[in-house]
Amino acid sequence: MNANLQIKSFEEYKEKYAKSIEDPAGFWGEIAEEFVWQKKWDTVVEWNFDEPKIEWFKGAKLNITENALDRHLEKRGNKIALIWEPNDPKENVIRFTYQELHNRVCQFANGLKAKGIQKGDRVCIYMPMIPELMIAVLACARIGAIHSVIFAGFSATAVADRVNDAQAKMIITADGLNRGAKQIPLKRVIDEALELCTSVETVIVHDCLGWMPTMVEDRDCWWHDVVKDQSIVCPAEPMDAEDMLFILYTSGSTGKPKGVVHTCGGYMVYTAYTFQNVYQYEASDIYWCTADIGWITGHSYIVYGPLLSGATTVMFEGIPTYPDPGRFWQIIDKHSVTQFLTAPTAIRSLMAFGEDHVLSYSLDSLKVLGTVGEPINEEAWKWYYLHVGKERCPITDNWWQTETGGIMISGIGNLSPMKPTYAGYPMPGIHPVLLDQEGKEIQEANVEGYLCIKAPWPSMLRTTYGDHERCRINYFSHYKGYYFTGDGAKRDEDGMYRIIGRIDDVINVSGHRFGTAEIENAINTNSHVIESAVVGYPHPVKGQSIYAFVVMDGAVEDEAMSKGEIVETVVAEIGKIALPEKIQFVTGLPKTRSGKIMRRILRKVAEGDTSNLGDTSTLLDPLVVDEIVANAL
Ligand code: PRX
Repeated sequence: MNANLQIKSFEEYKEKYAKSIEDPAGFWGEIAEEFVWQKKWDTVVEWNFDEPKIEWFKGAKLNITENALDRHLEKRGNKIALIWEPNDPKENVIRFTYQELHNRVCQFANGLKAKGIQKGDRVCIYMPMIPELMIAVLACARIGAIHSVIFAGFSATAVADRVNDAQAKMIITADGLNRGAKQIPLKRVIDEALELCTSVETVIVHDCLGWMPTMVEDRDCWWHDVVKDQSIVCPAEPMDAEDMLFILYTSGSTGKPKGVVHTCGGYMVYTAYTFQNVYQYEASDIYWCTADIGWITGHSYIVYGPLLSGATTVMFEGIPTYPDPGRFWQIIDKHSVTQFLTAPTAIRSLMAFGEDHVLSYSLDSLKVLGTVGEPINEEAWKWYYLHVGKERCPITDNWWQTETGGIMISGIGNLSPMKPTYAGYPMPGIHPVLLDQEGKEIQEANVEGYLCIKAPWPSMLRTTYGDHERCRINYFSHYKGYYFTGDGAKRDEDGMYRIIGRIDDVINVSGHRFGTAEIENAINTNSHVIESAVVGYPHPVKGQSIYAFVVMDGAVEDEAMSKGEIVETVVAEIGKIALPEKIQFVTGLPKTRSGKIMRRILRKVAEGDTSNLGDTSTLLDPLVVDEIVANAL
């Protein structure tokens, strides 16, 4: 924790905010001074949103792990950096001090080097939520290899797409993972994925479940063999501030997931700064974020933000409902957690089990709560506030994206006013605007518009891996001079933002992003499918769920069987996490004369609101709508 980074009052926030907008270089330059640089920068920021080209701390040299680990050793070497809570509460907790974590990271980093990994190589990580996942991420950063963590729920095809796009040289995985009462194979998925990949030379396997999977000769090796005899001293690779730190794939409105690229210097400064302020972290606090490191929240607010701040971060292997729906609350009491960050979906799913589970625990240690990933409805907000925070703890609603690298709009610990369903205020340095259809900035309060960002911030994406034009088109071409978020929002009289949700073809299921085109492509790989259209509809627990309208190549005789086949296709192409909850077979899709699918109509059908479908007369075949409405699920 760095006292100089922390805002101490709402007044101070307002002052800092004004300064950050007036003089971004002065503001961020001062914050960056609090970190260890092997060489200082020549300029704080150079940018244009046309190409786009964004450079923070140009000319500087650093290694993020020196800041996340080495920097703490002298004063906090014996402080606990990581508390790992296993899936099964009867198993042992693992704790690493900063010194121990440092040693493990260096040892594994030396192992990576021994396996031929060099600065700039891409390494994919497909692992359970175990300490070795954090170690693998940091070991890559230590030697300048670019990590690309792939969430361990993705299918072999989805893994292969990501490995191929990044041309990864290595994959780090485990035999399998624990998930509640289930155990799920990972190495088997990698073996299948690698049938579709040619760039991978080495697979490192961590022995997690003792399954002894088949090991491919000259390709696969055990983690324990890789670290054996390796020194715990590994110099930190000097990185340019703008060198790539990691790639993380995320879905957009086009079919193929994009590899969002984050770089070293700006990402470091921004994740640490936002972590310390949003969570008002103090030296003896125990912070826990329930996300998976496979998503951006885990990168920024389990690994980097907390460790850069010298915090104690909790990592949980399991799920909220195992062995019972009191598991989260039990862990909070067990480790005296002070800051707790979770997703609205988790809160809603636990609400469904009633209050008894949460009321059995004291939760006295809690100081600040957080929610992230999707809009939180008022009912869930109140439940969280009342039963978890006991009306004592502020809820910070963190709005941000894989592309933004860090929290953009949020409450600030207990300093800022809060209002259910409103994310809150822009972080210092963040300049959000709401644009109307014509791209004009909306000045009035309480008017909904497209949420865009007007100026660069240190942790913003720099490119999409291997395809810069895609980055430009997706984020910088909708409105000239603005970063386009894809979200709709409004702002109240006090400058507080409320996020309405995606206005593009992105569906947010349980806080996980999927593009409609991505799921349609998956469904269409089924040989009996002619075409399909996918939309999101509101779901009481998941926020949104997936509804697929599917045209088959003939009459569907056995609906259950055909649905089962489509489900299998999606599981194989993407993973269980993207399953359509509803599949409706239709003879045609509502299309305009130019062949564009009218999703607006399908969305209304999926929402169960067919009273006013608008003008359907311009459709190629208006009758198809009657059939869709009549058979809606
Ligand atoms: O629609 C917004 C929603 O999640 C999207 C970003 O998803 P992803 O890149 O997977 O990152 C999730 C974790 C940061 C956004 O475009 N979203 C995220 N946080 C919130 C949110 N919607 C409302 N409120 C939030 N706090």
